[in-house]
Amino acid sequence: MSEIYSEIVGTGSYLPEKVLTNDDLSKMVDTSDEWIFTRTGIKERHIAADDECTSDLAVKAVEKALENAGLKVEEVDLLIVATITPDLVFPSTACLVQKKLGMKNAVAFDIQAACSGFVFGLTIADGMIKSGVYKNAVIVGAETLSRIMDWNDRTTCVLFGDGAGAAVLRATNEKKGILSYSIKSDGDYVDILKATGGPSATQTSGFIFMEGKEVFKLAVSRMPEISKEVVEKAGCSISDVDCFIPHQANIRIIDAALKNLDIPEEKVVKSIQYHGNISSACIPLALDIACKNGQLKKGDNVLLTAMGAGFTWGSVFLKF
Ligand code: UT7
Repeated sequence: MSEIYSEIVGTGSYLPEKVLTNDDLSKMVDTSDEWIFTRTGIKERHIAADDECTSDLAVKAVEKALENAGLKVEEVDLLIVATITPDLVFPSTACLVQKKLGMKNAVAFDIQAACSGFVFGLTIADGMIKSGVYKNAVIVGAETLSRIMDWNDRTTCVLFGDGAGAAVLRATNEKKGILSYSIKSDGDYVDILKATGGPSATQTSGFIFMEGKEVFKLAVSRMPEISKEVVEKAGCSISDVDCFIPHQANIRIIDAALKNLDIPEEKVVKSIQYHGNISSACIPLALDIACKNGQLKKGDNVLLTAMGAGFTWGSVFLKF
């Protein structure tokens, strides 16, 4: 029997209508467009409406991805939602999305790997497709981070936003799609980036807390390291990468990774300016943007690299 691969056959994304600019934020906290843009590369972020939940953003991104893939909702047999801002503690946001879309033939569940969630989700779906049991998977990263933001804390509230991005992964017998991957975590770093409360914690509600400098240092070393690892695993070298899509957390982290990996500027996708850090949604959103604007073409070798709270980090190398 020939080997099974999984290829991305459709992408979609959604950003809420409301835009919060750096100038808007400078009226809320002691900050400026100049500080935010030079330190992070962010110009604006989108904020979900009061009646919009993570599942609503996910539904819109998934609908577009299915349309782009030419796939009917009933053909999907696996739905994975990566999020750190689920609508409810339970049931899963994935089951809410399943209900809203009438995705009756899929098994749906959430995963939580913070900003690495979409990359982790791709690897899980790849394994399930390779098993031969699943054929059409949807992986969506969706967040309403504005709901867990301390809007008085200028060190975090300028960085994050809301949105969703999705990809359709389909089984194929051709050697394309996901060629290699690596995902990692290190629980020693749980305290440098976290929500300060939760249903089973002593503090039941909380906001995003981050030791920015520590996260920055880890990101600039771990992202290039794991990127090289997966490209080599596929028997390729970094010069074979046609399109590099890193997590969009800070333009300075992306630029440091480019320098370390010696990837030329024209090969990287940078969309952070328009949406800020949306955790698990960043990579699929950037992927969708790159497909739509022609930066990413069929047959390109694509490197996706993420890192986030946990600490978690991961890379996927694929032929698009
Ligand atoms: O996806 C999850 C992963 N998260 C990340 O990747 C984030 C990683 N970290 C970062 O991106 C950066 O560390 C930040 C953007 C969060 C901060 O940049 P930094 O260059 O590390 O700045 P800093 O924390 O050292 O702060 C420099 C100064 C401080 O003032 P003093 O102590 O020098 O007087 C801060 O109080 O900037 C001040 N500051 C601000 N000033 C204006 C901090 N936030 C702001 C702000 N506006 N919003």
